[in-house]
Amino acid sequence: EKGGFDHFMLKEIHEQPDSLRNAIRGRLDFNLGSSVLSGMGTSPRDLAEIQRVVFVGCGTSLHAGLVGEYAIEDMADIHSEVQQAAEFRYRNPIIGSRDLVVAISQSGETADTLAAVREANQKGAFVMGLCNVVGSTIARETGRGVYLHAGPEISVASTKAFTCQVAVMLMMALKLGRGRRFSREEGMKFAREIESIPALVEKVIAQSDTIAAIAARYAQNEHAFFIGRGPQYPVALEGALKLKEISYIHAEGYHAAELKHGPIALLTEGTPVIALANDIPGKDKTLGNVEECRARGARILGIITEGDHEAAEVMDDVIEVPACHPLVSTIPTAVALQLLAYHIANERGCEIDQPRNLAKSVTVE
Ligand code: M6R
Repeated sequence: EKGGFDHFMLKEIHEQPDSLRNAIRGRLDFNLGSSVLSGMGTSPRDLAEIQRVVFVGCGTSLHAGLVGEYAIEDMADIHSEVQQAAEFRYRNPIIGSRDLVVAISQSGETADTLAAVREANQKGAFVMGLCNVVGSTIARETGRGVYLHAGPEISVASTKAFTCQVAVMLMMALKLGRGRRFSREEGMKFAREIESIPALVEKVIAQSDTIAAIAARYAQNEHAFFIGRGPQYPVALEGALKLKEISYIHAEGYHAAELKHGPIALLTEGTPVIALANDIPGKDKTLGNVEECRARGARILGIITEGDHEAAEVMDDVIEVPACHPLVSTIPTAVALQLLAYHIANERGCEIDQPRNLAKSVTVE
């Protein structure tokens, strides 16, 4: 049932090119330079009326929402924000009929996310679900939305759901963007970028053995920092979550600019810093932060764009991901971090598919 892999997590990491193909299939319109997401149940008028997009979710789904926020603001010029679902539900969310609330949940059963959906429905928002499990409670109660088609995710650590969530949100941003500031040509170009995602991910997965060798050098540390900026900031949070969840290493994800506001005090000789330094806007600043970490003796593992010698030079180790659009680059980068976490946990002999204290689906508050 694990298809020859030692763990479901590794199997699911390897399934990503296929699950992404399934998530994307039939949803790109190259003629119009847009996407077809009929499940969103939006008329062009609805789309024009949306004044804000609010993503709600927990854990990995929350991190995917943070990438979505960048995509919506960047491409559609719509104010967007993300709220932890429990927080959304217990504060006084100021939302109304022109707000699109997107509930992100792999399982479609997470108690806090479901409660957020009920709250948003009650307030008359335009609510939709972004779920993987067909017919799940959140999918039913939202009544409209987009399924991920990632296939069953068994491993407690979410992998393929994250990358499919991001891919679907990029398609949502494309659709909303085309109704606003995105020209047909720009839309066509971005649709091609989305189409290329499975191939980008294949290139990262092909490096699994190299990543395993790098992981062996980081497996004995008890602390690690992940830094990134722009759309890679949420990926840093997700990388840290993956590592702590399955390897029990204390890992923190930070915006690269935040380090010097406190956390840098924790860096000592050999502390691992995983720097997401893809060749996208902000890279130079991140490389500056890497220098600051090096000066404190940190050991730097850079996730960099293929062939970027400038970035490679300041790193102790590197994992290369293919060059692509900055928003799209979040997906291959996340896959690299999934493999890193997996191989580190494996090196430490951890119970990868059933980490201690965790359940696949959190159906209580
Ligand atoms: O099923 P959901 O997407 O609603 O689950 C949300 C979180 O419980 C989930 O992503 C959790 O953080 C994973 N264990 C992360 O790998």
